[in-house]
Amino acid sequence: MAGVEKRFGTTRALRGVDLSLRSGQCLGLVGRNGAGKSTLVSILSGLAEPDAGTVRFDGQPAPRVGDIEGWREWIATVFQHSMIVPDLSVAENVFLGNTPRLLSWPRMRRRTREVMREWGLAIAPQTPCRDLSVEQRQVVEIVRALARGARCVILDEPTAALERQAAQRLFERVRQLTDSGVAVLYISHHLEEVFEICQDVVVLRDGEVVATAPTASLSRDDLVAVMVGDVEQTTAAHAPPPAPAGSGPAAGAPARDDSAPRGEVLLAVDGLASDAARGRLSGVSLRVHAGEVVGVTGLLSAGVATLGRAIAGAEGYAAGQVRLHGRPVPPGRRDVAQRAGIGYVPEDRRAEGFVAHLGVAENATMAITGQLSDRFGVLRPGRRTAAAAPVTSRLSLVSSGPGQPAGELSGGNQQKVTVARTLVHRPALIVAITPTRGVDVASKELLLGSLADAAASGRAGVLLCSDELSDLEICDRVIVLVRGEVFTEFSRPPFDRDELIVATEGLTGTTISAVYGSTEHNGAEEAAE
Ligand SMILES: Nc1ncnc2c1ncn2[C@@H]1O[C@H](COP(=O)(O)OP(=O)(O)OP(=O)(O)O)[C@@H](O)[C@H]1O
Ligand SMILES: [Mg+2]
Repeated sequence: MAGVEKRFGTTRALRGVDLSLRSGQCLGLVGRNGAGKSTLVSILSGLAEPDAGTVRFDGQPAPRVGDIEGWREWIATVFQHSMIVPDLSVAENVFLGNTPRLLSWPRMRRRTREVMREWGLAIAPQTPCRDLSVEQRQVVEIVRALARGARCVILDEPTAALERQAAQRLFERVRQLTDSGVAVLYISHHLEEVFEICQDVVVLRDGEVVATAPTASLSRDDLVAVMVGDVEQTTAAHAPPPAPAGSGPAAGAPARDDSAPRGEVLLAVDGLASDAARGRLSGVSLRVHAGEVVGVTGLLSAGVATLGRAIAGAEGYAAGQVRLHGRPVPPGRRDVAQRAGIGYVPEDRRAEGFVAHLGVAENATMAITGQLSDRFGVLRPGRRTAAAAPVTSRLSLVSSGPGQPAGELSGGNQQKVTVARTLVHRPALIVAITPTRGVDVASKELLLGSLADAAASGRAGVLLCSDELSDLEICDRVIVLVRGEVFTEFSRPPFDRDELIVATEGLTGTTISAVYGSTEHNGAEEAAE
């Protein structure tokens, strides 16, 4: 790719980008939210046309934009959001849009079975993809990408929906690919992954390539510094952001010690049970006090997101009770829960988090429109912008202006709109489900810091439902769910990473030492298997 330019109105999403990918190379592509990564991917996949510059494969000009088949012979992209057709079988998905004329169904199924086995998955080719796990679907996508003979694969945030062990297996598969000569472009906000599997890394900043280097020549801090650019913000990426004057202890500062009095009980959950397909709950009880950040974590199927959604009123539940300030909150009524004071950062921002065609400021202030109107009920747009500005700037949201439709923002910036909307409302309780997913490393700190600040002011309680251990660092307590039940609670930071991981597998340090004579991490993994 040489000299590639791409504009959206006044935004210069890519400025003279040069990038090359060799056979057998795994190249990392990193950058802050809005840096231009997804734009680059859509150009490299033949979905968008650059305003200037060229793309070549093996020295030949790339097919024209729109010639999807032509591009697929060269490059295949596994997008962050699944492109699997759930009602078709595994074999049909693998050969989707690419049914070879001379291949019969029995042979296609046999071929599918063979390649799936090569990838370590024993799935019958007739299985409808609907019945597959997220990891299995992803393998189907990778296999489909390669079925067309592409020698170049783009993986855009592939681990976002994978559990730790599934991610490890993906890394193995990526190594298998590069060993066989395939070129891989790997996009991730998880820098440790980039260090683990990429030989080289390209850093985009404001649409420009600011560094290309072997990963071995950089430290994590170097990489963050290059991504962020200026010295001031580099510190923000490492240190907890300063709390605004008078807002209590700084976010990220050691949490209050146990002797400090807790606030009143804000949220009381008793005996919550749910049959939700994505993770059942059987009798979960917990308390969140005012001023407290309580983490809930567990494996994908443990019910963590179900619990958050049920408390926020985003879905119903079979039994149990949720009370805020002692008053019952009815199940499955998001509107009532919102009025009662429960703010909600949903897991699926594209479905529930924002309105794509409305502007950034309008989205951020949607829940407080009433408060912004004057006594005649008239709302001046300036008030919206003014109300949204402190929060959007605190989260370092990148947009062309407060009026830009949220649908045009980059993925991570859309997530920030979702969080801003909740914070502007100043709810009594914030239920946040995986709030930092897709958010760059520096912005993550800002985002978590603003949640912690809401609690540190003593005003709000926060329930942080997340499988990212780094999110849990801001918590005062962490509750671990295993198969829909409270398995254990870590009552005081700092939380030990390995102990947390072990607990999510439903094991305790004592179980492991009884079996293996040590609390070694590896032992835990084997025991889990
Ligand atoms: N369709 C569009 N219309 C207007 N602006 C756009 C459009 N698509 C992208 N942009 C802008 O181009 C810039 C680059 O966005 P891009 O999605 O490529 O970022 P990214 O690096 O993928 O970020 P993230 O990590 O958040 O996914 C952003 O400022 C974004 O707002
Ligand atoms: Mg993106």
